Amino acid sequence: MSQMRRLLLAAAIISSAIFSCQPNSKPVIAASVDSTNRKWWKEAVVYQIYPRSFKDFDGDGIGDLKGIISRLDYIKSLGVDVIWLNPIYASPNADNGYDISDYENIMKEFGTMQDFDSLLHGLHQRNIKLVMDLVVNHSSNEHKWFLQSRNSRTNPYRDYYHWWNAERGKPAFRPGSFEVDGSGWRYDSLTNAYYLHYFSYKQPDLNWENPKVRQEIFRMMRFWFDKGIDGFRMDVIPFIAKDTTFPVITQKELDEKYGGAWDHYMASGPHLHDYLKEMNTEVLSKYNCMSVAEGAGVTTATAHDFVDEDRHELNMLYHFEGVSLGFVPGKFKEIEPGGIKLIAFRNLYSKWDSIFEERGWGTIYLGNHDQPRMVTRWGNDSPEWRELSSKMLTTFLLTMRATPYYYAGDELGMNNIKFNSIEEYKDIESIGMYQQIKNNGGDLREFLNDQKITARDNGRTPFQWDNSNNAGFTAGTPWIKVNPNYKTVNVAGEEKDSMSCLNYFRKLIKLRKENLVFVYGKYQLLDKDNPNVYAYTREMDGKKVIVLLNFTSKPASVNAGINIDNGRLLMDNYGKASSASTLRPYEAAVYQL
Ligand code: NOJ
Repeated sequence: MSQMRRLLLAAAIISSAIFSCQPNSKPVIAASVDSTNRKWWKEAVVYQIYPRSFKDFDGDGIGDLKGIISRLDYIKSLGVDVIWLNPIYASPNADNGYDISDYENIMKEFGTMQDFDSLLHGLHQRNIKLVMDLVVNHSSNEHKWFLQSRNSRTNPYRDYYHWWNAERGKPAFRPGSFEVDGSGWRYDSLTNAYYLHYFSYKQPDLNWENPKVRQEIFRMMRFWFDKGIDGFRMDVIPFIAKDTTFPVITQKELDEKYGGAWDHYMASGPHLHDYLKEMNTEVLSKYNCMSVAEGAGVTTATAHDFVDEDRHELNMLYHFEGVSLGFVPGKFKEIEPGGIKLIAFRNLYSKWDSIFEERGWGTIYLGNHDQPRMVTRWGNDSPEWRELSSKMLTTFLLTMRATPYYYAGDELGMNNIKFNSIEEYKDIESIGMYQQIKNNGGDLREFLNDQKITARDNGRTPFQWDNSNNAGFTAGTPWIKVNPNYKTVNVAGEEKDSMSCLNYFRKLIKLRKENLVFVYGKYQLLDKDNPNVYAYTREMDGKKVIVLLNFTSKPASVNAGINIDNGRLLMDNYGKASSASTLRPYEAAVYQL
């Protein structure tokens, strides 16, 4: 496995161990909406669209902007407030748009700037906001800045990137995710120098130390805001600042003091928060927008530095501790046998809730384009339990105190495709890692088995619209295989079924919208030692609700210590409740007390 990935995983695993303290047991003071700093982005439900896989309009097998436009009424019908669009900028697509060659143009497979304007207009007409992806730790190596930069050592763009002249010897090791040899430096004979790339060699890291780079980026951000977008999701933003003297990191430091290496040498560099403050002053503060960091490497100890209001940096971040839970240390995305440990899961989410109790604001998600499908990873995707467990997870996401980021397709209960061979994968991460393991004589069968559960492509298969060819996603050949279960799992079918995952999702959103207690209400964990049921209350202004979630395929009893007998049932994924003290398999029940 590449050093970078090992470090990321280790950071998430070790920090979750360090912080896996018992959830806060302070006396509960019910929150009050009057004393709450209300913001639209706290009350929003964000729906993430991976444009490549959502809807193909022109029949080339790749989703596009016109495709999204053709489904705006569907999106509106969900009740979501904000769309986060993965990158749609011009890109050679080494990493599906996370390698941008022109920040102010649209990827040709996705359409034109006119299409973009129509999309934004269509969303705003429906009162839905649009958040774009901001990928500025790196650009594409085909970006004009990089083409100039590599041209000569004296080119005015040279210091837009990080170069190391070869006469100084080889630069100290830095990890390059997605590279088969694991190295984050690539030699370029044109100027006899190495350049830095934390991801693939097609994604050179931009040099944020250079004020001109920062000004270019801020100008570009204003370009999009002036068009009317409503915010940015910021790709690996803690990576932008690094120790640019590139000191040697010993193997010991890499192996043991991952955190030291990570924080001081490779990411979260000394000027990170200066850059974010500058971005806030120069751009974000001028617009009514939202900002959310992809918080790679961020822990509960550092989260406040990004999101506390008085710091004037960003609004929210999403951490990796939750989605990394259960990974085998030292292995690449391999899940420990025995399924998820609910107690660890619950403590982790309770811990993240508690740190934002007084300051800052959290996010919650179980799926996105870098994750497998949530029902496969966190629920149970067998035919018997797929729908129920998917609805149970949706209940969790929409009843926590944090802004939910919900990944398109999860509302249908879409699950992992589980490819059998490497030829079926399209993702640079899976393909690169396969080659690396092969070169090292590792166990490829084991790797492919793990990938069935954890590979990113599982979350990238085409959205399932109906039971016609290719799930109604495209009239052409889809760029990645469609999950064969589209015959039964699709929008058209679920529209007709009042008990479907889709309609359940809509009802829950409505419930959250109509009851601010689900947004701002105080969270309290109950029945802390219960290994099967996650139970909590939310409370605000005299209103109290209780959420009961059975995370297992067996009936499970719950001892909430609260009399629910007179409670009013607000939601139940079985349609009606049976008993509040014994939950049916994967049952989710929400009562007002
Ligand atoms: C995080 C993005 O979410 C992921 O898809 C991408 O591969 C890396 N950053 C590199 O941009």
